[in-house]
Amino acid sequence: MLEKDIDRVFFSAEELQDRVRELGARITKDYEGKDPLFVGVLKGSFVFMADLMRAVDLYCDIDFMAVSSYGSGTTTTGAVKINKDLTYNVEGRHIILIEDILDSGVTLSYLKKYIEARKPASIRICTLLDKPARRKADISADYVGFECPDAFIVGYGLDYAERYRNLPYIGVLKSEIYA
Ligand code: IMP
Ligand code: MG
Repeated sequence: MLEKDIDRVFFSAEELQDRVRELGARITKDYEGKDPLFVGVLKGSFVFMADLMRAVDLYCDIDFMAVSSYGSGTTTTGAVKINKDLTYNVEGRHIILIEDILDSGVTLSYLKKYIEARKPASIRICTLLDKPARRKADISADYVGFECPDAFIVGYGLDYAERYRNLPYIGVLKSEIYA
């Protein structure tokens, strides 16, 4: 049913699974003995995070934050509103911030500073997708699934108007859907 709205598949379910397994293996190696805390940025990261965690063979736990950015349409003020805060004390913990996509970088640079102020032992960013062409904030990810072109994509957690998060692959919508 959803497939009829998709113009082109960017990353198939198999490609996503293979890459997520590679990232999980790297994190498993890098965090041996460190019991990392994964902090997912809702809502977009939830599918990626669920698969990534199952590819990590370590003692670890998870928390979530939900944010929205102020500013309308194309103008972002750089301010981020926290709709759901951390439930854990992150002091002394090794934090891995999990995002679906690093776009302007405004959200993640704000969240990184916000968590850093709470004195974690370390903080790294893991994003499934990176759109470096659109970066405004001075931030880069430590773990990147794929670099992706400057197109609006949906699926595997990513939405358009809250829809298509449940697509098992990532693709571009037909232009008439945005109209
Ligand atoms: P930014 O890096 O602060 O600009 O915001 C990143 C957020 O914008 C992501 O968490 C997504 O929710 C959203 N986003 C950016 N690009 C896309 C896209 O191509 N499809 C769906 N959501 C996107
Ligand atoms: Mg998001």
